[in-house]
Amino acid sequence: MPSSRREFLAESLGLVGASLAPQEIFSKAKEAAAAAETTRQLLREDSRAKQLVSTLTLEEKIGQMAQVDNSFLRSAGDIEKYHLGSILSGGDSHPKPGDSFEAWRDMYDHYQSHALKTRPRIPILYGIDAVHGDAHVIGATVFPHNIGMGATRNADLAEKEQRITAIEIRATGIQWAFAPCLAVPQDIRWGRTYEGLSESPDVVKAIAPAAVHGLQGKGFGDPLGVLACAKHFAGDGGTAFGTGVPKAGEGSLHYPLDQGDTRLDDADFHRIHLQGYGGALAAGVGSIMPSYSGWNGVKSSASYTLLTEILKGAMGFEGFLISDYAAAKELPGSEKQQIETAVNSGMDMVMIPDDYPKFTRLLRELVHEGRVKTSRIDDAATRILRVKFAMGLMDPNRSLLADRSLAKEFGSAAHRAVARQCVRESLVLLKNEGGVLPLTKGGRIHVAGKNADNVGNQCGGWTVTWQGKSGNITTGATTILEGIRKAAGAAQVTYSRDGSGASGADVALAFIGETPYAEMHGDRTNLDLDAEDRSTIQNLKQAGVPVVVVLVSGRPLIVDSILPQVDALVAAWLPGSEGEGVADVLFGKWKPSGKLPVTWPRGNSTSLHIGDPGYETLFPFGAGLSY
Ligand code: GLC
Repeated sequence: MPSSRREFLAESLGLVGASLAPQEIFSKAKEAAAAAETTRQLLREDSRAKQLVSTLTLEEKIGQMAQVDNSFLRSAGDIEKYHLGSILSGGDSHPKPGDSFEAWRDMYDHYQSHALKTRPRIPILYGIDAVHGDAHVIGATVFPHNIGMGATRNADLAEKEQRITAIEIRATGIQWAFAPCLAVPQDIRWGRTYEGLSESPDVVKAIAPAAVHGLQGKGFGDPLGVLACAKHFAGDGGTAFGTGVPKAGEGSLHYPLDQGDTRLDDADFHRIHLQGYGGALAAGVGSIMPSYSGWNGVKSSASYTLLTEILKGAMGFEGFLISDYAAAKELPGSEKQQIETAVNSGMDMVMIPDDYPKFTRLLRELVHEGRVKTSRIDDAATRILRVKFAMGLMDPNRSLLADRSLAKEFGSAAHRAVARQCVRESLVLLKNEGGVLPLTKGGRIHVAGKNADNVGNQCGGWTVTWQGKSGNITTGATTILEGIRKAAGAAQVTYSRDGSGASGADVALAFIGETPYAEMHGDRTNLDLDAEDRSTIQNLKQAGVPVVVVLVSGRPLIVDSILPQVDALVAAWLPGSEGEGVADVLFGKWKPSGKLPVTWPRGNSTSLHIGDPGYETLFPFGAGLSY
């Protein structure tokens, strides 16, 4: 019997010598394991990193531990002055001017060229939230958000998604994606539900290694690979309702779930929230982001047990930990105490992200006062630098500026074809009375709903901007309505957002659901359809035609009241830029194959949290019909 909680978690995790996804759903498991071994070997050959660290000043080592948001960088020259190891583009920090592919690439090259002027010539790692394609950049291939990828149950497809994402990121020069998110959402009222693959740890564990392998490629050093970042370690999707925290500067606005506290015993915490990290570690993930949220009252960013003893010790993680955005500032005490706690808990790099002069000064003081040991600084700097060595970034013969030859791949038709397949396989058919689906290519099809002809709505958050936005927000995309018009053949396609004018049509399609949001701004206390959607459905019913409802949303919504009135119901999640994939399923070019990645609650239940007393299911996890 393990003597302590740490041994228990380590042994019960089964992650020491972690396993990869079962072969039958991840055909590249052997390739991923080989790549992971390559990565581990490269990380273990860290004599060069250790040697370099021994030559660095304290300021240079602390600089490697500092990550600054591009929008707070006072001048590119500060990269040299403060020896910065990393820059990121948070949700809204974009190149100036604009979000074009060229603007991103030029910005990256500009910053990297400054890093290469530093004495030790240590390049920066540039990080971005490419969580469903490199979607911040206009013209990128935008994939379905993770909840849709979870519905595909297709790890090979997830690997293809991430391979393409990595290539499009590398085309801008950037080499680090804050992905995959391995949250296991247990309460779909959480605003980040769509960033999770599934409520099932088995689905997350099966897809995690495929996602990491797709992003990192053949192991560190793959010029088309990027450093993956499994997040948010751990239990981010399991917080108790009502434990979320008000955001600074937002007054009493209280978010019931986001960044809250996960209250589980060791066994359940491991069983639900740590499985995906086993898969990610098995695939050699090089960075991990601790969660804002806490476990039984201890914030992950302040948990020596979780970060150092379990993750780095028992689970053998050999990469480095990057904090979440200003997560250290959410810890108890003064800013100095916050840094002390985070770094001593095992945080290697801090996403400050703003006042880097202050951060570097405070950490220097902490070392001089003996509150942070030099050995901890050396360990953090060594972890970061051995990743940079392993990735080939320290190779003097390798150009670290963007590879211009990759530009033609960015948003290419071939990439979009894979994203379209992801859309097809993500759709879940939940009702199909009288075989109203698949649609026939004759007669008149009336299309309605706020999400029928809106790229921004079908992409959701983390697309060009942090929160995402309705409207024509990126280029190269196809709306669902455009996809229907292309697929309809001889059928006449009419459209009205509100559903008016449907009478006389052979069938009406209502694309309803959610408008974009991200993180805490998506926390809800209820999941009812909004008034516009209910009105759209009523207008279609009054027209006396068969009605197909397609929900374009980041999660299940409460559909009890409309379900008896409609002939078919399809969950399309947040499909991204390739709206034609939705039409492919509706017209039967692809038979529906998606399975619910999360349970679909019944609205009159007393709780919307799975497992709570009084919680009732409308459609169970795994539900999904076909033609
Ligand atoms: C955000 C998110 C995290 C993201 C980071 C950088 O607040 O929690 O998922 O990677 O900050 O944008």
